Amino acid sequence: MKTVRFKATINNRPVDLLIAPNRRLLDVLREDLGLTGTKEGCGEGECGACTVLLDGRPVNSCLVLAPEASGRRITTVEGLAEEGRLHPLQEAFLEAGAVQCGYCTPGMLLVAKALLDKHPQPDERAIKTAISGNLCRCTGYAKIVAAIRLAAARLAGGKGAQAGSGCAKEQKGPGLPVSAGLRVVGKSPPRVDGVAKVTGCARFAADLKLPGMLYARVLRSRTPHAVLRRIDAAEALTLPGVVAVYTAADIPGQNSTGIIVKDEPVLVAIGGRIRRVGDPLALVVAESEEVAEAALAKIKVEDEELPAVFSALAAISAEAPKVHGNSNVQSVTRIKKGDAEAALAKAQVVVSRRYTTQMTEHAYLETEAGVAAVENDLLTIWVSTQNPHYDRREVARVLGLGQHRVRVVQAPTGGGFGGKLDISVQCLLGLAAWKTGRPVKMSYRREESIIASPKRHPFVIDYTSACDGEGRLLAVKVRIIGDTGAYASYGPATLKRAAVHATGPYEVPNVLIESFCVYTNNPTAGAMRGFGVPQIAFAHESQMDLLAQTLGIDPFTIRLRNCLKTGSLTATGQCLEAGVGIAETIRRVREKARELKMLEK
Ligand code: FES
Repeated sequence: MKTVRFKATINNRPVDLLIAPNRRLLDVLREDLGLTGTKEGCGEGECGACTVLLDGRPVNSCLVLAPEASGRRITTVEGLAEEGRLHPLQEAFLEAGAVQCGYCTPGMLLVAKALLDKHPQPDERAIKTAISGNLCRCTGYAKIVAAIRLAAARLAGGKGAQAGSGCAKEQKGPGLPVSAGLRVVGKSPPRVDGVAKVTGCARFAADLKLPGMLYARVLRSRTPHAVLRRIDAAEALTLPGVVAVYTAADIPGQNSTGIIVKDEPVLVAIGGRIRRVGDPLALVVAESEEVAEAALAKIKVEDEELPAVFSALAAISAEAPKVHGNSNVQSVTRIKKGDAEAALAKAQVVVSRRYTTQMTEHAYLETEAGVAAVENDLLTIWVSTQNPHYDRREVARVLGLGQHRVRVVQAPTGGGFGGKLDISVQCLLGLAAWKTGRPVKMSYRREESIIASPKRHPFVIDYTSACDGEGRLLAVKVRIIGDTGAYASYGPATLKRAAVHATGPYEVPNVLIESFCVYTNNPTAGAMRGFGVPQIAFAHESQMDLLAQTLGIDPFTIRLRNCLKTGSLTATGQCLEAGVGIAETIRRVREKARELKMLEK
């Protein structure tokens, strides 16, 4: 293979390598030089996680060919701390709480450094402009802006960094003895993993590298609904570097996963059903990621396409194509309190509306990734996850192993928001490592992550509210249809939660609620921040505004008139005996809104 010389100064050290001319700077830094503080988030120059400084200017290293950076001065996050001392920016990020999952942090620090090197006293607008190409899914940016201002002030005051640094101690953290509790309540103790994250020392799953490691990639369906007829991997297996191609027939245990219902295949079996675009069909294991990727294109798939359904409303009709079994209704939750129909019939004001909410992608900056290895009959999987104990049970079941032979280690997780509660790479990695006997790594590309990962459930909500002439709620009647996509995941629990919270923080004497978790051929929906509650909150709060508007009363007044109080009965009949703070919260919001002149009076 043709190679070119790559000579550069990286973090003040000379580097001299022979590399293929088409290598990205990001890959040379991470793979050849082990500088894994530079992260890959999208691979398309959109997220900024891979930012490095090239002759002092921030660039997305995923878009720079390494030969273009030859002869230049490169700074990565590992080069910020000097002589064992954190850079003031690193300190400020820790102090301001600007580090959460930490996946965006290296890129943020480097754009901030480039800014302060050029404009030591930037205003807020300049800071926001500087970081505008870097996405953060955790912090909301305010603390990042505050941290940059803090660092700028410190640098201007000539104060150097005080805290120590170093990868050797950063993973331990200070620890908090119980007796220290009173000293930390109301304060922000340092993150135990903060220093690791600001120095680039934290090892996320895709940063791990083991000797003799193989790489896995998944072949996914392109049809949303079909019967899988044939997989022919003969040509893929002839590619030099391909170690194996696994299909459902190679799974030694049970070929199914699912937190509530085991309805999702690890790999679709021949004769089995494809239920969405992105269903996994085959697993390629190869000596390099490039070879694994190339092999995917050599696998031939034959399927027999079936009619598909892409709307939950259509899916509940009797004629709709069935995704599982004889009905697309996966589960139903019903809540009845009093007599809603009778109360609606005699109410003075009745408001009915349909609300629809969209599917939402979690878009955590770190895509799904993991590494698996077998040693002494023990399978260990280091993985980006929110649910290691569940992962362990699923991997053991799929591989037909006792749980004592499976260990799952949660690697630092670059955002999850509920989306990493489901199985992603775990079972496939386990299969590959168990079968080959060698360590295996798999990490999703951004496109694959979006295709394969669960989403927030889209809802269709029909909501009717009734009140008297003073705005006192008399009844609500709600029907919620939630699209769980091809597999149940957390759908039944999400729809149940939506039903339980359908009356919001209000006391309603007569309630009739039905929620339906419905299968379609859409991407699977699972857990996401709020678990069905944000969707239904949009509906019940809109209803309160409409009732207030209809009656010509203040929206705060109608809420205060109806909100739950100590002694209230919820829609499910629970008596709230103490600690109900919603009225006080509404009053405080009203005061603040007045203070900010958001209200007329
Ligand atoms: Fe910014 Fe998580 S801290 S993406």
